[in-house]
Amino acid sequence: MDQLTMKKQAAQAALQYVKPDTIVGVGSGSTVNCFIEALGTMRNQIKGAVAASKNSEALLREQGIEVFSANDVSGLDIYVDGADEVNPQKMMIKGGGAALTREKIVAALAKKFICIVDTSKQVDVLGSTFALPVEVIPMARSQVARKLVALGGSPEYREGVVTDNGNVILDVSHFKIMNPVEMEKELNNVAGVVTNGIFALRPADIIIVGTPDGAKIIE
Ligand code: 5RP
Repeated sequence: MDQLTMKKQAAQAALQYVKPDTIVGVGSGSTVNCFIEALGTMRNQIKGAVAASKNSEALLREQGIEVFSANDVSGLDIYVDGADEVNPQKMMIKGGGAALTREKIVAALAKKFICIVDTSKQVDVLGSTFALPVEVIPMARSQVARKLVALGGSPEYREGVVTDNGNVILDVSHFKIMNPVEMEKELNNVAGVVTNGIFALRPADIIIVGTPDGAKIIE
C-alpha cells in the first residue's frame, strides 16, 4: 500500500475524536492536509478550527471551515497533527514543514493531542531517521549552530525557508535522543532558539497509524 493511502486512513480515523460544536486544533503537513479534507465533511457540525500554519489556515477556509486565532480560544478539545518520527512513549520529532513553533503553541491549548502518521514514522529512538528541526532567530543562526555542534549534532541551514514567524530552521542530524524531555529543555535554553522539534514535554495522547491493514489506534 502506498504512503498517501496510509496517511488518508489515519486522517479519516481521527474524525471519530471530533466532537460536535467544538473548535478543532489542526497542525500541518501532508497527513494533516488529508485530515483537513476529511474534516470538510463535518463542516456543519463543528464551530471551526485553530490552525498551526498559514497553509493549513488556507486549506481549512477552502473547506468552508471557519478559522479562529489561538488568541480567541481558552482551550481546545483536541489537536490533530502529523509527525516526522514517533517513539513508543508517544513522543515526537516534528517540524519537517517548518511549522514546529505554532504546532507547539496550538498543541499546548488542547486537552488531547492526536498524532496521525503512517508506519514509516515509527521509531524506537527519536533522531534515528530524521534530522531534528530547530527554529532560530536569524541573527543567532551561526552561534546556535556552533552550540549544536558542541552538543554533538551536525546542523544544516534549511536554505530558502523562512518560518511563518520570520525565523530560520537548522536541521540537526546525528543526535540520538536518548532522553527526549531533557534534550527538549536543553535546546530550548540556548539563546536564539525559538523552539526545537522534540515534542516530549507534551507528547501525544493518541497515535493513529495508517498501516497496510488499516488504521491502528494506540491509546
Ligand atoms: C510540520 C510537521 C509535520 O506534521 C511533519 O513534518 C509531518 O509531515 P507529513 O504529514 O507531511 O509527513 O511537523 O512542521
